[in-house]
Amino acid sequence: MLIPRFAIAAALLSVGALVAGGCSKEPATVAAAIEIPEGEKDPAVWGKKYPRHYDSYLKNAEKTQKYSKYKSDNEDRISPWPFQVLLWDGMGFAMEYNEPQGHTESVRDQLLIHASRRAPGGVCLSCKSPYAPELKEKLGLDYFRKPYDEVHAQIPPSGRETGVMCLDCHDPKTHALRISRWTLKEGLKAIGKDESKLTRQELTTLVCAQCHVTYVIPKDAEGKSVYLKFPWANGRWGYIPIEGIIKQIKDENIREWKHKVTGLKLSHIRHPEFELFSAPGNIHFAAGVSCADCHMVYEVVGKTKITSHRWESPFKKNMKACMQCHTQSAEWLKEQVWIRQDRVNHMFTKAGYAVAEAALTIEQANATPGVDQALLDKAKGLYEEAYYRNTFIGAENSMGFHNPSEALRVLGDALGQAKETTMLAQEAILKAQGTPKHFDMATIDAIVKERYLTKDGKTQFRPNVARKAALLDPLQTAAAK
Ligand code: HEC
Ligand code: HEC
Ligand code: HEC
Ligand code: HEC
Repeated sequence: MLIPRFAIAAALLSVGALVAGGCSKEPATVAAAIEIPEGEKDPAVWGKKYPRHYDSYLKNAEKTQKYSKYKSDNEDRISPWPFQVLLWDGMGFAMEYNEPQGHTESVRDQLLIHASRRAPGGVCLSCKSPYAPELKEKLGLDYFRKPYDEVHAQIPPSGRETGVMCLDCHDPKTHALRISRWTLKEGLKAIGKDESKLTRQELTTLVCAQCHVTYVIPKDAEGKSVYLKFPWANGRWGYIPIEGIIKQIKDENIREWKHKVTGLKLSHIRHPEFELFSAPGNIHFAAGVSCADCHMVYEVVGKTKITSHRWESPFKKNMKACMQCHTQSAEWLKEQVWIRQDRVNHMFTKAGYAVAEAALTIEQANATPGVDQALLDKAKGLYEEAYYRNTFIGAENSMGFHNPSEALRVLGDALGQAKETTMLAQEAILKAQGTPKHFDMATIDAIVKERYLTKDGKTQFRPNVARKAALLDPLQTAAAK
């Protein structure tokens, strides 16, 4: 049984109003008198005024392993789905790619990860450090194109290791929520959403959309980064479909790297939480639920109720976030998440291996003398479509929970396009008197092991990491009941 939707919204609003009111109406204590200067980044300074929020913010440094089925802080995210390393051969993601951890860690993690991931340059700081907007103003084009280390060194020493900070989401004077990134401001313009007319609930989701979105990095002729933007030109509020993102990548030719297996120049899709969450099919977005409702629970500290600033999976607090609105048990709620995630993972696995099969077949066609180029080009065009769709769901951080039906639709299309790519490439090989090879899941796993299992730092693919790529077996599930 659910508490009716409007009661939820009303209850949430009144709690929020209480909390906010409680802060602003506090008697003129020392804390209330503290003024946070405009541009202040140090969370410890903010913490003098908001000690409870600061305490909960510091907890973002905690690491929790295996708190849910598909998530574990900072764990290797390539090896559990081995096909991915083949799809990213030629790009930093194949070298090292990990599950996210807390907001305080974002810059530290960037400094620790394989150097190839920082290769795009200073631009990488954009969703990791609150210094990004002013560095962009100060350095102009150099902010994007100069090496990461050079731009990072421009941050004052005290701020070089702190990640997401209060200033990223709040106005220092009023502590109201505020959008601090040019990327989202421009993104909202692109979808025709007026930034000055956002509701509180919309803003509570949009502060997250400053970073939890996909982006593109246009390059100059030398391959140097020149900008960072959200490919939202073909979207609208409530639907920024992957089809529109792909169309913009193709229309504007924003290709960032060269895939070694197919020889194709490609773009990439990163963590599109906001895009998937806000697309049709997600009942929570439709009902006005915000990111913060599930990832920043209310908690009581002393006698005060605050919004927790430990951004985390709802599993880490045993589904307490969901139970703010739902009256069911934690067990039931967990099962609802897994049912959806298992099905999305099934299709992600199926589509992912199909895209890998397509890549290997194109590779064979490329090496076949006298191959029909027009046919092969058609196959390559479709490969790109399938690759972005599969990556859209794989890079999204909820394993489809944020919008299961849209996730399955996108993966279904990826699977179909990948199979068609393979057929076209096979036809090209046959027409040139070649014999197409077949690449099933086991063969692909074997190829990945053989090619990428190196100890010389070429990739961090490790076959012994627990596999998460899996196909559902409904007959077995039914028999187990
Ligand atoms: C990633 C964005 C983000 C960051 C970073 C952030 N906050 Fe918040 N903050 C929020 C959201 C979202 C709310 C809830 C607003 C609402 O309910 O409308 C909030 C609410 C608050 C409130 C209002 C009272 C409450 O509990 O709801 C205070 C005070 C606050 N934050 C202080 C801080 C401080 C201090 C920091 C840094 C240590 C910080 N915030 C960092 C997003 C952020
Ligand atoms: C300024 C950029 C930025 C903003 C704004 C932001 N995030 Fe994040 N978020 C990140 C980065 C970067 C990571 C990964 C950090 C890492 O792994 O080092 C992350 C990680 C997370 C995680 C995983 C934490 C864990 O311990 O596994 C959650 C959950 C999350 N963010 C939710 C939110 C929500 C909800 C909002 C809005 C209220 C938000 N984020 C706003 C950049 C941001
Ligand atoms: C109805 C609840 C709900 C809402 C609303 C929601 N999420 Fe989630 N989110 C989840 C669940 C459930 C997971 C999967 C967690 C797991 O498997 O441990 C998740 C996973 C994540 C993760 C990965 C967390 C981790 O531990 O690695 C991030 C980041 C994230 N969500 C960000 C967002 C953002 C940004 C929004 C808004 C655009 C949002 N979420 C809205 C429920 C929600
Ligand atoms: C802010 C309130 C709120 C929070 C928090 C919330 N939900 Fe919901 N949930 C709703 C509303 C509203 C609906 C739509 C129900 C309706 O109106 O019939 C819904 C619907 C659902 C449904 C049925 C959706 C479907 O697929 O058709 C599931 C399952 C669900 N929620 C699970 C969760 C889980 C798991 C969490 C925590 C990770 C969560 N919810 C957090 C308000 C919330």
